[in-house]
Amino acid sequence: MIKIAPSILSADFSKLGEEIKSLDKCKVDLVHIDVMDGSFVPNISFGIPIIKSIRHLTKIPFDVHLMIEEPARYVKDFVDAGADIITVHFEADRHLDRTVDYIKSLGVKASVALNPATLVDNVKYLIPKLDMILIMSVNPGFGGQKYIEYCDSKIKYVKELADKYNKDLMIEVDGGITKDNIARVVRKGANVIVAGSSVFRGETIEDNIRILREEF
Ligand code: DX5
Ligand code: ZN
Repeated sequence: MIKIAPSILSADFSKLGEEIKSLDKCKVDLVHIDVMDGSFVPNISFGIPIIKSIRHLTKIPFDVHLMIEEPARYVKDFVDAGADIITVHFEADRHLDRTVDYIKSLGVKASVALNPATLVDNVKYLIPKLDMILIMSVNPGFGGQKYIEYCDSKIKYVKELADKYNKDLMIEVDGGITKDNIARVVRKGANVIVAGSSVFRGETIEDNIRILREEF
């Protein structure tokens, strides 16, 4: 089962509530929420109060992607705000094993993200206890960038490791996914697809999601 996770980074923030309700109507699998601190990535997005304020609008799980330095400091706040999956970056945390245990101890799903140039083997030993791996297929910080082609082989390699060590692992791909490459990343092994601009730009949210779903 392939999950679609629209990234609200590309939503119209002046009507964020309505946008969330549209996602709810489309029964998307996850709502992907990009938190940026202006230090780990060169952009600042939104944080805990925004997540709290939209939590009551839908029951769809919140997939919170923390692009922040030393994320463990804030994990509990994001869980309290309503996160169901917490992703921390390999590059932002010196004690990843401990942070993964900590996230799970709070009763939510734990996930680790890898920047495009980061080797998958860095997290190989964590795979058995992770709920999800997030493969960044653009450099994190902004929506609307172009998919980096070499990420195809990273997805394929994660899928091989998952087949060996954790058959339930969710393999999420984030960045530059469109109707033209979604089928390919699914073929490589991705089973959770983040889509920002391809959901919120162009046609209506409903049409865009239908167009993406038609591809696999
Ligand atoms: C980038 C974010 C992505 C972004 C994806 O740092 O992690 O989730 O919103 O946007 P698109 O789908 O437009 O590349
Ligand atoms: Zn993201």
